[in-house]
Amino acid sequence: MEWKNELAALLKITYPVIQAPMLGVTTPEMVAAVAERGGLGSLPVGGLSPDRTRELIRKTRSLTEKPFAVNLFTNEVPEYNREEAEAMQDFLVKFSEENQLVFERQSLDTLRFYSYREQVEVLTAENIPMVSFTFGIPDDESIAVFKQHGITLIGTATSVREAVMLEKAEVDAVVAQGIEAGGHRGSFLDDEPLPQVGTFVLVPEMINRIGKPVIAAGGIKDGITIKAALQLGAQAVQIGTAFITSHESLAIPSYKTALQRAQVTDSAVTRAFSGRWARGLRNQFMDAIEESGLNIPPYPIQNVLTAGLRSKAQQADRKEFTNLWAGQASAGGEIHSSAEIFARLIAETEALPLY
Ligand SMILES: Cc1cc2nc3c(=O)[nH]c(=O)nc-3n(C[C@H](O)[C@H](O)[C@H](O)COP(=O)(O)O)c2cc1C
Repeated sequence: MEWKNELAALLKITYPVIQAPMLGVTTPEMVAAVAERGGLGSLPVGGLSPDRTRELIRKTRSLTEKPFAVNLFTNEVPEYNREEAEAMQDFLVKFSEENQLVFERQSLDTLRFYSYREQVEVLTAENIPMVSFTFGIPDDESIAVFKQHGITLIGTATSVREAVMLEKAEVDAVVAQGIEAGGHRGSFLDDEPLPQVGTFVLVPEMINRIGKPVIAAGGIKDGITIKAALQLGAQAVQIGTAFITSHESLAIPSYKTALQRAQVTDSAVTRAFSGRWARGLRNQFMDAIEESGLNIPPYPIQNVLTAGLRSKAQQADRKEFTNLWAGQASAGGEIHSSAEIFARLIAETEALPLY
């Protein structure tokens, strides 16, 4: 099995297999485990404060000398309707009382959102070699700073149009995120309906249209799917859901158990938790918000309104009331170390016939 290609060389990895950044699930330990095995670990810091970003980078560095990517959310904070946000809070108060949950109403005047712009300096000061991002394209100034520091840039696209825009912004590689993928959609164009293209349609389309290496993401979970994505012309794969059940993951026990039992039909794309489209296992919270008929405030407003409730539900291991991000290919997650999961992915791919 020939793993070497242009992108693997650029990313300085033995295997073009990327552990997807998964905010709320990925830990420095997971990133380091994959990096040590010759893959690319990705540390998610989307929406975090500069201090927390620095702390997580340093923690990861203390665990591995191998390079890893740091992942940003490059969205802007939109205008939103305050009445709708208050109506959502009214609903959450009632919902919490009915379900013995803890919900603390927030003053809309004091909501605080961190921008990726506040993190750029931390990444350059810490000599981060690779930055991946989702939910948009960094502004010209940030791209220029990354380039001055020789940072390799990986953007996320869910449509060919988005990929073309990323290429124009001079990223080094593009993640083609299919609709199968777990977690948030990286989509960032407001003037087209949410792209819902599957990975195996999106990857060859993108390869035909852009001159940059394409990374396949969504529904990849074993040797055969890795091999198929590489045969389609992807230069790497990015795998998320398969690592959620790992020992190093932050996922709560009931989330891991639900993933192990999941059928391929158990996930849905929803805006209920964060205001942004994301794929997760269906649960009571998702259904209740959707059935409420309320207008869901946009990301990151809804995200911050529901954050406290989700965090308390996680502390109590109550999976019905927090986001259970997962891709369609979530069935049969293994409770193993990240290193073992990574080794299995490589071994399975290598065991396949060459044709
Ligand atoms: C729990 C979870 C959290 C995620 N968080 C992020 C994130 O912080 N940044 C990002 O670029 N992608 C994020 N994603 C999307 C992944 O990068 C990737 O596109 C996806 O996991 C690939 O599909 P798969 O889950 O079928 O492997 C997340 C995915 C999951 C499952």
